[in-house]
Amino acid sequence: MTDKHSQKIAADLLHLRGQGLSKGDPVALPLVSSSMFHLPGDPDGAATYGRVDNPTWEAVEHTLAVLEDAPCVAFPSGMAAISAALFATLKAGQTLLIPSDGYYVTRLLSVRFLAQLGVTVIERPTRSYADGGFDGIDVMFVETPSNPGLDLCDIAAIAQAVHQAGGKVIVDNTTMTPFGQRPLDLGADIVVASDTKAPGGHSDLLMGHVATRDNTLRDAVLDWRKMSGAIPSPHAAWLLHRGLETLEVRFGRMCDTAGAIAQVLADHPVINDIRYPGLPDDPSHTLAKRQMTSFGFLIGLTLADKDAAEKFITSCRFLRPATSFGGVHSSAERRARWGDDVPDGFVRLSVGCEPSVELLDDLLQSLSTL
Ligand SMILES: Cc1ncc(COP(=O)(O)O)c(C=O)c1O
Repeated sequence: MTDKHSQKIAADLLHLRGQGLSKGDPVALPLVSSSMFHLPGDPDGAATYGRVDNPTWEAVEHTLAVLEDAPCVAFPSGMAAISAALFATLKAGQTLLIPSDGYYVTRLLSVRFLAQLGVTVIERPTRSYADGGFDGIDVMFVETPSNPGLDLCDIAAIAQAVHQAGGKVIVDNTTMTPFGQRPLDLGADIVVASDTKAPGGHSDLLMGHVATRDNTLRDAVLDWRKMSGAIPSPHAAWLLHRGLETLEVRFGRMCDTAGAIAQVLADHPVINDIRYPGLPDDPSHTLAKRQMTSFGFLIGLTLADKDAAEKFITSCRFLRPATSFGGVHSSAERRARWGDDVPDGFVRLSVGCEPSVELLDDLLQSLSTL
């Protein structure tokens, strides 16, 4: 179950559109696909062109804004949102700090592109992010819990220190969603997220968003979208709007089941190591209790080796062997296959919406074959 604040937001979300309707309007969101808008004379703030305006994006951005309690700009993927946040905040000669153990594509984008444009890119592990201080850091990119290792860092402490040193903080909140962690309330300047994961939730769309309460940053991100052309498709936005209406109920179920499963698997003889911020013995538990309103739906399991991990994943009836996470269907993957710095037998398990007893029985059955 989610916390009281999340439940209030979830109720508001479900009636957001309904409260603005006139008699005869559809209750469900219409999907508007148009590159041109009727525009005689001066534009006067009307919709102009499909790269700049779209009523279906606007509806999804309005919903995301209630969820984040901040204005949001929608993007066609999480990486498009991350690119917008980085390109809108950095310029040549500045320094970017990124996690060495976070989502690897953010690192590739920084090292392969931003560094070529004159940005100095520094990497540190999430767990010791504050070591070395923040002097000279212009933009700090945080991912907590980190994907895939599920390490945490203290957003409030980092934001305070980075602001004192004159920098900005961007938090990738993909692994938690605003129902599990609220980085803007902890002092972050910008939140980025892949809505491809839990917010979409049905593995049928790619989307992302940037949220910020700073109008100058928001305008820069909007300009980036307009000029780079990194716009979401109206169909994906429409699907995301539908997904957001059930996010709270799915997220609550997924996190509750993940907590129950982690507790049982913590003592399993064939599991060498388990990471779940909700486990009292997890190195991040104390910080997780303070910083997060839920412990999430991702669990990290280390099995003996590559073969054991692959056998575990493929023997489960209720686990899809797939990259990505956060869907209604539980899924898992061996992250070393992408070169992540984790043991060969490390499995990232994304707990879905299956009834927990069914899923746990299935996982235990598969582990018993190892
Ligand atoms: C933490 C994190 N951030 C960002 C992304 C990128 O999202 P997308 O695939 O929607 O571009 C991912 C994708 O797996 C992710 O795990």
